[in-house]
Order: sequence, then C-alpha cells, then structure tokens
Amino acid sequence: MPESDSPQRQTPDSLMLYGFWYRVLPSGQVSGNRLQKAVLLETPLVIGRDRQGLPFALHDACPHRGMPLSFGWLDGQQVECCYHGWRFDAHTGQCQLIPSLTADQKLRVDRIYAGSYPCEEHDDYVWVYIPEPAPVGAGFTKAADSPFPVPRVPIFSEKYKMAHLTADLPCSVDHGIIGLMDPAHGPFVHQAWWWRKRESIHEKQKSFEPIPDGFRMSAHTPSSNSAPYKLLRLYANADSITTTIDFVLPNLRLETIRAGKYWFSSLTTVTPVTRDHCRIDVVAAWNLFRWVPFGSELLKFVFAKFVRQDQQTMEKQSEGLKHHPHLMLIDDADRPAKWYFQLKAAHLEAKRTGGEMKHPLPGPVTLKWRS
Ligand code: FES
Ligand SMILES: [Fe+2]
Repeated sequence: MPESDSPQRQTPDSLMLYGFWYRVLPSGQVSGNRLQKAVLLETPLVIGRDRQGLPFALHDACPHRGMPLSFGWLDGQQVECCYHGWRFDAHTGQCQLIPSLTADQKLRVDRIYAGSYPCEEHDDYVWVYIPEPAPVGAGFTKAADSPFPVPRVPIFSEKYKMAHLTADLPCSVDHGIIGLMDPAHGPFVHQAWWWRKRESIHEKQKSFEPIPDGFRMSAHTPSSNSAPYKLLRLYANADSITTTIDFVLPNLRLETIRAGKYWFSSLTTVTPVTRDHCRIDVVAAWNLFRWVPFGSELLKFVFAKFVRQDQQTMEKQSEGLKHHPHLMLIDDADRPAKWYFQLKAAHLEAKRTGGEMKHPLPGPVTLKWRS
C-alpha cells in the first residue's frame, strides 16, 4: 500500500488474527469449581481451574450433542456435561466416561475429545491460545500446542506492584486498536486539571522504528506539558526519562517508562471477542511510589480515568460506525493506524504464501503532529 499525502480512505476489515495468545479473563474471575463462560474471536469457551489451581480452557460445546459444557459440573479434574453426563478431562478434553454405555459396548471413549486450548496464567490474567479454526476431525483431535510463549508485562526490579483494569468496547478490534494508538485525541478526550488542558496543544515529533511484527516509538523525556511527568523527574532525581511504546501484532501495546532506578510498565491488549465487540485490558507494574501510602491507588485512579474516557468515546463513536460511514486516515497523526493495517495485511499474506513477512516500515521514521 503506497503512502500518500492525501487522506486515505480506509475501512477496518475487522479480520481477527488466529494463532496468537489472548487474554481471556482476569485471574480473579476464575475460582473454585465454577465454570466460567467466555468468548474469544467468536469462539465459545469454558474456563475453570483444576484442584491444583491450574486454569484450563475447553470449547464450550459438548462433542456429543453440542450442549455448552459451562452448564455442567467440575469436580476439580473432570468436566461433566449436564445433558447425558459424558465426562472430559479438564485439560486435554479427552473423554473419560459415557454413562449410557453397557459393559459389552466397545465404543473407544478415549478417542473422543472435547475441544481444548492451551491455557496459562500470567500477570493477573488467564490467557488462551487460539489456533486457526480446526477444519476436520473436531471431536477426535487433541489441542494444538502454542508455538510461542505468553506475552508478559516487562519487570525491571525484584519488588514492584501490579494492578489491572478492564473495559468492554462496543466496536471491532480494529477500532479498539487504532483508538489506542491515536495520538491526536489526547487534548480533546483526556482533559483533566491535573493532566493537561486543551490549550496546551503543541507540535510534537516522535521517532518510530520497525520491530518484529510491530513498531516502536522511542523518546527521551516525554510530554513536558503534563504535571505528572514534571513530578516524576523531580521525584526520581533523574536527568532523563525514557519512554518506549511498542505495538506488536496482534493486539499488544507495551509501554515502559524509566527514570533512574524507577520504572513503570504496562501491557495493554485489545482482544477481539466478536466481530463488533472487543475488550481492553491494561496490566501495569511499577516500583514508583511503592511505599507512599495511596501511591498505587493514585496510579490506578489515573489509569482508570484514562481508560474510562477512551471507553466513553468509543461508545459514542460506535453509534456513528453502525451506519458504516466512509473513514479516512491522515498523515502523520494516523500513520501508526495505517501501519497497523499494513502489518496485519503483511502477516496474513506471509501466512498465505508461507514466506517471510514483509515489514511495512523500511527503517526509522519521524512523524510530526500537534497534540
Ligand atoms: S450433549 Fe453432552 S453428554 Fe450429551
Ligand atoms: Fe486515549
């Protein structure tokens, strides 16, 4: 796709990317013997924990007659379907028992599987790996292995605090993601007396560089027009503050702020639930203000406020998007959004051809905008 100075008409295609790890639920929502329903990429899932506390993810449909397994029961090891009592191993999905079989009926129960997915727990969340939709053999296939590890929140010291928050967005994953990387909405959406005023809008210049499956914005000394950064510089007694923000396919935004021995990092994901619904989850970790009473409450408050503002904005936007308007992306402020669509297209193309992914950024680029 060629870059041009004219506004580019572009409609998000809302394609969801399979073959990645996705956050499915905050850890706290999966407890005891409860079977929790969840949806990722329009795939119905049932999430639970075994007796040891290890999470599992099964396809939420019994391979017998399709009853959602989430209506059944968990005994800490096996999930029992509520319809005819078939039992499945919670992790492998392998069938363990079919109560209706008589002693002389020789059906090989162990060859039957409820769909299961790789499932791990990290940094306050349960993650599930969603492979390409299985074409054949459903009901008789084991779970695919995940080819790479779960993305983690970057940590830079032994002691730190961690917090998370989550917000549902009534829009496609594409709108959720480009909303997240859009630099021009700040002065209009994120106003607060303690952050910045709309009048503080000014020209900015940021350097970007390609990284595998994504791009990085790197900066020394971020936005001087915000009070919290001024405070941070004072507090950390550091000459320079460095910030990097990475975007990595399919949906990861990693932010790291370092000032001397202090650091703050976050991993934000925008998860496709269905075609027109996504969820934003932010997990932040920091060693700043660790011993200051209310320090972490304050950070959570600031974060929650920003995410709430974005959520409310996207709720309003979704009213407009219902009518499928033509959209345009302009340079330079919307260039990261263009890169996102190009990365996604390049990823799908590489997958189709089996070749190397062609990165849309040939090298470092400087972008300018006012915000
Ligand atoms: S539908 Fe699950 S046991 Fe029959
Ligand atoms: Fe925002």
